[in-house]
Amino acid sequence: SDTAVRRDRFSGGPARAFLSSLAADAAIFEADLAVDRAHTVMLAEQGIVADAVAGEILSALGDVEAAGHAELSEGEDVHEAIETAVIDHVGPDGGRMHTARSRNDEVATCIRYRLREDLLAAAEATLTLREALLDVAGEHTETVMPGYTHLQPAQPTTVAHYLLSYEGGVARDTARLLDAYDRTNRSPLGAAAFAGTPFDVDRERTADLLGFDGLVANSMDAASARDFLAEGATACATLATTLSGLAEDLVLFSNKGFVELSDDYASTSSIMPQKKNPDTLELTRGVAGDAIGEATGTLSLLKGLPRAYNRDLQRAHASVFETADDVREAAEVAAGAVATADWNEAVLSDAAGDGFSTATGVADLLAMGGLPFRTAHEIVATAAERVDDEDTPSEAAAKVDEAARTVTGEPLSAYVSRDDVEAALDPLHSVASRDSAGGPAPDAVASDLDA
Ligand code: ARG
Repeated sequence: SDTAVRRDRFSGGPARAFLSSLAADAAIFEADLAVDRAHTVMLAEQGIVADAVAGEILSALGDVEAAGHAELSEGEDVHEAIETAVIDHVGPDGGRMHTARSRNDEVATCIRYRLREDLLAAAEATLTLREALLDVAGEHTETVMPGYTHLQPAQPTTVAHYLLSYEGGVARDTARLLDAYDRTNRSPLGAAAFAGTPFDVDRERTADLLGFDGLVANSMDAASARDFLAEGATACATLATTLSGLAEDLVLFSNKGFVELSDDYASTSSIMPQKKNPDTLELTRGVAGDAIGEATGTLSLLKGLPRAYNRDLQRAHASVFETADDVREAAEVAAGAVATADWNEAVLSDAAGDGFSTATGVADLLAMGGLPFRTAHEIVATAAERVDDEDTPSEAAAKVDEAARTVTGEPLSAYVSRDDVEAALDPLHSVASRDSAGGPAPDAVASDLDA
């Protein structure tokens, strides 16, 4: 047959395995069957292929599907292998399936068909994670904890405020994945090799049968474009980067005893019997490295490719599917870890005021009492050299008073009451006072949670 001749001439040599993507194409086996079916139905509807032949092709495709990808034996890719199997079942008429198309528009359609599922699955995992963050935040609007800058104690905040900071980031990751989905979900089918076809194809019909939201119109663009792969990979890498920060925080917080992971999300040591390690979070953190590599690799592969089709493209998609899958799993694991972790309120409340983290609140109070903020800052900075974590509020307030006298020559009582200063030194009070929009005050957070 013609197929045998083509195979002998082009892929029988020592580079046969190198040329073949058949193994990796397992990821688009179902997609290719769907594309073959839609194309065959359209060919019949347009009178390009007789109904009876189309019927035989569709029934052969059913047999190929039932046998599974592993049973495909011939061809340098899944497209050729399925076509060969169809011809084996139907006879030479099976070769009519490839009328008015090329593997170029075929593969481009398959990978969009597959990737859109992966993107939706990843987006769904982000929703699960956001739900977990919102649920746990709802339980901890008044649980004070240290907030950090430069990994140094900076200002007290709450567990809810902290978790919602990630909910905001993950929400943007959802939106990026859905944007990528929208541009992925367009049909290139009917572009043929890149230059269209003289057959009277109905591209809208195949797009519709395959559930695409419209066409990639220009046939050269349709066959060549892989920017949707770069966009999908980048959206996944950005989500993975968000997850890596959350994971890193939770690793640090478990180290400090602020949070304890559920056993389901921890691991132990094969030698050190006492160990409970945050391995799921470390793997989540690690996935970001792969995902960033994938985004970079995809862009590197695409960079400088001339129009229209080049075989380099065969190497572009399989690893994006894998990355999307890994990132989805990381988001699901992060969701589970967040949903089941225990926040240790006593340890957190002890640590919340460490490192004179209420200093900014004291300076704010002095400024509200009439001092220029810079002077207030200087007073509290002077006190900070003397205040330590063991001080009672009254001892710390006495040191602020001393500092006020040094800097301004006036006692603290010239600006604010001693009681107010002591209150400002309390982490919960400090948090409650920061009720600006989006701030950590329980009331502000509660209204964010309601919104
Ligand atoms: N397996 C190929 C790919 O993934 C199909 C396209 C082959 N087209 C070609 N002109 N050689 O890109």
